[in-house]
Amino acid sequence: MTETLTSPAELDLDSYRAQVEAHLEAFLARKARAARSQALPARGIEELGGFLAAGGKRIRPLLCACGWYAAGGGPEPHGLVPAGAALEMFHAFALIHDDVMDRSDTRRGRPTVHRCLAAEFALTQPRAEAEQLGIGAAILIGDLAMTWSDELLHAGGLAPDRLAAALALVDEMRTEVMYGQYLDLTGAARLEGSTDLPLTVIRYKTAKYTIERPLQLGAVLAGAGQGLLDGLSAFAIPLGEAFQLRDDLLGIFGDPDETGKSRLDDLREGKHTVLVALALAAADERQEADLRAALGDQAITEDAAGRARDVMTATGAAAGVEQMIGERYRQALDALAAADLPAPVDQALRALAHAAVWRRS
Ligand code: IPE
Ligand code: IPE
Ligand code: MG
Ligand code: MG
Repeated sequence: MTETLTSPAELDLDSYRAQVEAHLEAFLARKARAARSQALPARGIEELGGFLAAGGKRIRPLLCACGWYAAGGGPEPHGLVPAGAALEMFHAFALIHDDVMDRSDTRRGRPTVHRCLAAEFALTQPRAEAEQLGIGAAILIGDLAMTWSDELLHAGGLAPDRLAAALALVDEMRTEVMYGQYLDLTGAARLEGSTDLPLTVIRYKTAKYTIERPLQLGAVLAGAGQGLLDGLSAFAIPLGEAFQLRDDLLGIFGDPDETGKSRLDDLREGKHTVLVALALAAADERQEADLRAALGDQAITEDAAGRARDVMTATGAAAGVEQMIGERYRQALDALAAADLPAPVDQALRALAHAAVWRRS
């Protein structure tokens, strides 16, 4: 793959995004050819390719490119495109497994990977068996995405010292997501009015792997020192928290046609979000009963979800989350100003931050 980013002054994120997408497509085409030539199943590769092609904001690779330029990366971005592709592949792994764990039916406006596969298995198997097979196959496809994320980075032509620095960050990133996801899953069992746990969850399950680590990965590829990595982190963590707080609001109040996801999932799974914590803290007895009745109800109806939404609005919880988003957005922009980055990178990060926080999808 030829890499054509030319200079920080020409920071062309559209071209970079297209290169990352082409790199992923070519990588999967090679994997599919190799599988077929050995009479191995390529169906999972098709599914993964379809998932990657179905959309997504690509915020992680774009931040990786910004990190590179923030660190003064020059006109020959060795390994920057494969690194961005590795991040997007890791994200695919995280989402495919997340949808199994959250029992989600819809993602990026189409059936989730385990639902697609279950529907195929149902053509020849009893329903319960087909659903279990769909889950098993989706876990394996997610595992492949995780493994191939590694391979993309290893095979990306990085100099050994840069690869070693990148892998140290990627090791941290993977561990952080697993901790965050575990806390997210287990938090549903103890819903309360404190925001301590939900804030830890969003930092670990989202803020780090979505914003902080991608930025830092690009920066270490260009040889960044600890000072810059810390400066990027001061921008990234509040922004990443704001990003997930927005996701939590969209997960309850968003338009599924725009988000591509259901707005019942978080309620049905009883997610202990900041939104829920604020609502529980301010609810009267009746409101708390309505909210708790909806949370974790596997057969939740639209009416019950509507009552839970009303509680979140009437208690001021939704407005409270909006306020927390605004505070974190401003904190991120202040940290960005303090980092004193070259003007084109500063501008690009401002635009990405705005899009990440003030979004409808
Ligand atoms: C969804 O991530 C999962 C979260 C961490 C909130 P994105 O919102 O980046 O998902 P896509 O890639 O745009 O679909
Ligand atoms: C996002 O999880 C974090 C990861 C996928 C690691 P969520 O469960 O909150 O995100 P959505 O709403 O399903 O995209
Ligand atoms: Mg989910
Ligand atoms: Mg989840």
